[in-house]
Amino acid sequence: MYKLNDGQKIPSFGFGTYKLNGRSGVQSIVSAINNGYTMLDTAYNYENEGTVGRAIAESGINRDQLTVTSKLPGRYYAYDDAITALQESLYRAHLDYFDLYLLHWPNPKRGMYVEAWQALIDAQKFGLVKSIGVCNFLPEHLNKLKDETGIMPSVNQIELHPYFNQEPMRQFDVDNGIVTMDWSPLGRASSVLQDELLVKLSKKYKKTVGQMILRWELQLNTIPIPKSASPVRQRENMDIFDFEISEEDMRQINGLTKPNGRTKNQDPAVYEEF
Ligand SMILES: NC(=O)c1ccc[n+]([C@@H]2O[C@H](COP(=O)([O-])OP(=O)(O)OC[C@H]3O[C@@H](n4cnc5c(N)ncnc54)[C@H](OP(=O)(O)O)[C@@H]3O)[C@@H](O)[C@H]2O)c1
Repeated sequence: MYKLNDGQKIPSFGFGTYKLNGRSGVQSIVSAINNGYTMLDTAYNYENEGTVGRAIAESGINRDQLTVTSKLPGRYYAYDDAITALQESLYRAHLDYFDLYLLHWPNPKRGMYVEAWQALIDAQKFGLVKSIGVCNFLPEHLNKLKDETGIMPSVNQIELHPYFNQEPMRQFDVDNGIVTMDWSPLGRASSVLQDELLVKLSKKYKKTVGQMILRWELQLNTIPIPKSASPVRQRENMDIFDFEISEEDMRQINGLTKPNGRTKNQDPAVYEEF
């Protein structure tokens, strides 16, 4: 568990739901909950908040046993739009509150993210959401939130995997009391899963490459949220709490990072998403 800067607690491991939609999506998410995942990550723009809500209802687990995250799309960053979109998110998910609600992208050229942040600050006061945070924010964006509202996000969800390990951004988050959450923690199942060093280490630790990567992310004091439609891979991805990667092997994995290692070249300084 991590204690956030607002006193709330969230699990150190979660489940991504991008691309899990409709009936098969419900089945995959119910399976993830039954496999023991207690934190679910959705977004308005994934068009599956309804799927997530339905899976929660069908799982039979008490809602308060789960940590549910969703995200505000950039097209709703005007104050009133943000509050309405958050309410709409909740209606879609059939929930009374989210545990965590995040601004999805800073879209800095639009200059709207401070206004949206003010809406999240108020939504937290209204009780619509327990904790508030951001995704894909760079230090300059975070400092601006602090300067203009006095409140730093509790979580920054960023792209993080062995080919893009975000060392400077992680350090900034630590220095500012922000918890780092990792999106695409398996690099979207790209070539990183065949990486020579990771394959070698996976044999040494008798774990899969996916498990090596997710364990490395836990030991970086970050929160991975791997997505899998498959119950077998869901269990594989959770089976990482019975071993520890040595400091030397952590250093070797840290060495795999590349300056252009993002999976889709989505640099938040220029990339925009609405
Ligand atoms: N905030 C943002 O801007 C942002 C951006 C991207 C993603 N996210 C969030 O982060 C979550 C995770 O990221 P992601 O879905 O992009 O990528 P990911 O979790 O790194 O990778 C998912 C892919 O890996 C496969 N996979 C899962 N476990 C595996 C294993 N053990 N071995 C081999 N392949 C495996 C999955 O296939 P199967 O399903 O067939 O197993 C899927 O194709 C998303 O679902 C979403 O919730 C947030």
